[in-house]
This record gives sequence, structure tokens and C-alpha cells, in this order.
Amino acid sequence: MPVHLVEHPLVQDTLLVLRNQKTEAAVFRRMATRISVLLAAEALRDLPTQAATVTSPMGAAQGRRIDADVVVVPVLRSGLGMLDAVLELLPSARVGHIGLQRDELTAVASQYYSKLPHGLEHSYVLMVDPMLATGGSAVAALDLLTRAGARDIRILCIVAAPEGIALVEQHFPDVRIFTPAIDQGLNDRKFIVPGLGDFGDRLYGTL
Ligand code: URA
Repeated sequence: MPVHLVEHPLVQDTLLVLRNQKTEAAVFRRMATRISVLLAAEALRDLPTQAATVTSPMGAAQGRRIDADVVVVPVLRSGLGMLDAVLELLPSARVGHIGLQRDELTAVASQYYSKLPHGLEHSYVLMVDPMLATGGSAVAALDLLTRAGARDIRILCIVAAPEGIALVEQHFPDVRIFTPAIDQGLNDRKFIVPGLGDFGDRLYGTL
């Protein structure tokens, strides 16, 4: 099963604030970062580490440090709302950007921008796209990433629709999806129901 449902109480509590239409943009942004930190921590649970020693004020202390190249790829524009969270956890992560625009009427995604770091073959790629709706943009972004050589790709999203999960599964069965919620489905405008509305508009106050 490629879907990893993140049921942590802090994640679920934050999701409810994001869903609430009364939550204004400033709080929405803070909550988007909070939930993304928690989701990223879950998605990166299996990152490889190597043994390391530091000297504490009391003497030598052994521990482990992360030994992996992590690349975070926000899908513009709403994925930007999740980027800082991952960089907070992993300041040395490399960042790629994929710009996809969804046609308001057909909901079909078209690419207008792509800039990815080189050498993705051995990287842990975290694609961040808060709303997995039809799955059209996710599949288009995954196409770009796999063509650029990415092999280990995880999707972080904040709400997923069964339709989007099914499409990703059909095209990219090895990609794991980390989400706190699988909602009922899509409405006739391809918005997730109950979802949280237009994530980008709520994030940037462009409603
Ligand atoms: N994008 C959004 O921002 N919200 C949805 O419900 C679907 C796609």
C-alpha cells in the first residue's frame, strides 16, 4: 500500500485548523508549516544515518548523524507553503521547483516551470504538494522527477482524494504518499470535499 496515513494527534489537530474556513492566512501559513514539519519527520523516518562522536561538556558522546542527500521539490505555487518546514528540519536539503498550472475548467495540469538539482539518482526526493486531488499534477511532476533520474520519491500532502491516490498508484506504484487524511472525493470543479478549499489562495490571501 503506497499510502501512509499519518494519524498523530498533533497532525490531526492542525489539519482541523487548516480546514476551518474561519482560519485567516497568517494562521493558515503557520499551521501549514507545523503540519508539514510533522509529516516530513514521518516521511523521513528511515533516512540512513552514520555513527558520529562529539564532545559534550562532560566528555565524548556517541550518536548518529543523517547520511543522505535529501531533495525537496515543492509543486508551485501551493507547495511553497510546505517548503520551509522541510528546510527547518534539514537546512542542507537541496531544492527543486516544478511549476504546474491547473486549468480552472478542465483541471488539467500543464507545466510552466521546472528547475531540478542534478544527480537525483541517489537522493531521497520529497515532493511537496498539499492537495492531491485528481492526481494529474502529481503524475506530471512525478514524470519530470523520474525522467530526471529520481528513484526514491515520497509525496507529502495535507489532504488526499481517493481519485488522486488511485492515479498515482496506477502510474507510479513505488511512490509512497504521506497524508493525514483521505477525504470523500472531488466535486464537479475537481476540488476535494470536504478538503480545505483552494490551498494556495488561503495561504496567500488571494481569495
Ligand atoms: N487544489 C486545492 O487547492 N484544493 C483542492 O481542493 C484541490 C486542488
